[in-house]
Amino acid sequence: MCGIVGYIGSRSAAQICLEGLHRLEYRGYDSAGIAVVRDGELDVRKVVGKLSNMDASLRETALPGTLGIGHTRWATHGKPSVENSHPHVSTNGRIAVVHNGIIENYGELREQLIGEGFVFKSQTDTEVMAHLVEKYYAGDLRVAVVRAVQDLQGAFAFGVICADNPDQLVAVRRFSPLVVGLGEGENYIASDMGAIRQETDRVYVIDDDEVALITREGVELTDLEGNPLEREVFVIPWPADAAEKGPHKKFMHKEIHEQPEAMRACLAGRLSDPDKPLQLDGLNMTEAEIKGLKKVVFTACGTAYHAGLVGRFLMEYLAKIPAECDLAAELRARNPVVLDNTLCVPISQSGETADTLVALRDMKGKGARCVSVLNVVDSSIARESDGAVYIQAGPEIGVASTKAYSLQVMTMTLMALHFAEVRGTADPALLRELKAALLKMPEYAAELLKREDDVIEVAKQYYQLKDAFYLARGVNLPSAMEGALKLKEISYIHAEGYSAGEMKHGPIALVCPELFTVAIAVHGDVYEKMIGNIQEIKARSGPVIGVADDGDDVIGGQADAMIWVPPVPELVSPLTTAIPLQLLAYHMADQRGEDIDQPRNLAKTVTVE
Ligand code: G6P
Repeated sequence: MCGIVGYIGSRSAAQICLEGLHRLEYRGYDSAGIAVVRDGELDVRKVVGKLSNMDASLRETALPGTLGIGHTRWATHGKPSVENSHPHVSTNGRIAVVHNGIIENYGELREQLIGEGFVFKSQTDTEVMAHLVEKYYAGDLRVAVVRAVQDLQGAFAFGVICADNPDQLVAVRRFSPLVVGLGEGENYIASDMGAIRQETDRVYVIDDDEVALITREGVELTDLEGNPLEREVFVIPWPADAAEKGPHKKFMHKEIHEQPEAMRACLAGRLSDPDKPLQLDGLNMTEAEIKGLKKVVFTACGTAYHAGLVGRFLMEYLAKIPAECDLAAELRARNPVVLDNTLCVPISQSGETADTLVALRDMKGKGARCVSVLNVVDSSIARESDGAVYIQAGPEIGVASTKAYSLQVMTMTLMALHFAEVRGTADPALLRELKAALLKMPEYAAELLKREDDVIEVAKQYYQLKDAFYLARGVNLPSAMEGALKLKEISYIHAEGYSAGEMKHGPIALVCPELFTVAIAVHGDVYEKMIGNIQEIKARSGPVIGVADDGDDVIGGQADAMIWVPPVPELVSPLTTAIPLQLLAYHMADQRGEDIDQPRNLAKTVTVE
């Protein structure tokens, strides 16, 4: 999605914006631009394609100035081009804006502004804002911005500068994320904290319909009526180098390898002894409220949705609460029935995914209690939820989510176990066994990472094929769906995750020597059936990569290649099967020479519906 950065201070605004934009690269983009104010004029530079093109352009000709705004664009309205790249400039050339979001009524505003003599240069929705600010500008930039946003419908975070106000940067948001970074004699704006963490660890998190007037000396926050707002400084909880690749070739690789430590952080303070009840901070629910639950609705997008599917399974299995899991983009459409005592659990790494935020608002409006499972602290979803349980993954930069998925699954497991304990709905011996397995999970994860070379060998065998099935049943069906998603996201191999039980109802028609199947067949309730399904694929000459427990000669004897995992109770096996499938996707993409951290067309944080 689009990323915005802005700077006002005494250093080079273009350089600081560029560094910030590099830190937002993971959001996905197709073009970029920077505008600065210098000697009473605006100077704008735009490039299409990778940010390295902007590096080169600025190396060739600098863009001096100590007030500036920058943008990476992920095209929604109008194809990637120099004209459509931000910053967009007003007709008189005095005002520049960068925008993240979508202006829904831009068509009618555009017609109206053209009728009033304003001249449009792009096909974007954003450009209306530049002309609107010019229309309302009478010397006070903040007043003009506030007046302009009153004409807008939709979602936005804007950074606005004006050649006539060289000491002011104005920012405003509705629905799209925005933070203001606080420095000494210099200040910043950004779409997320990671973009400016190198510069400062102190930020204001801006809320809907709030405006920030930023100067070199300070920041004034007001609402749209101009009333001053008090805001606590938020201290970013991770170190400046947390978002560096270190010795790893790619962020995705680094993050896969961070899982043992991240799992320890997720368990800390929640589960330390299998004989003691676990605690889940952030839930904000009494035992009576947990006991009274009649329904749980998980909702999320992408990878987080797959974690939600694990949550649904475990919530019914262990806590005996009827549970559903919906894609956030679909939840509102089906107009779900919300009973008294319905708990909605939005799951989101970023806490900013627009579809998930809309689903949360819809469920709250219908009377559900909403407890979110999140990674990024103080996000939009966190602020609108009744409770927030943090997965404690630390920053995740790789577009393909890995450690966040594992920790979302771990948190789903903790939540279901906790509810089962409180409600007394599961055999205490089973709960004890699962808690003991969770406590060992960081060691299992470390062991799985030691086996990376074996996964590389499997990847080398199959990376040239164009199609793949990922099959599983029961609690691991989401593991198959997530394994397939990882592969398609970064390697562009066409991959589908299916219930192995569904194969005979259609997909098996595609099985042939050119399509490989990854079959998750760890021991448990569905193991025997998986053996049968593997045989059906083999009988049709389809190559099979088995994912099975160490020492399982049956699967080992049938599959063409094997990925071994340490045996764990089936209900927690989505945690062990996830890691080698992440590595498989990574190494297949690596063999194919793909740009793993910046896969085509994808954005890590999707802030538009
Ligand atoms: C995008 C990302 C996915 C992610 C999904 C949900 O599509 O590319 O990796 O799973 O958004 O993101 P969230 O931040 O809500 O977990």
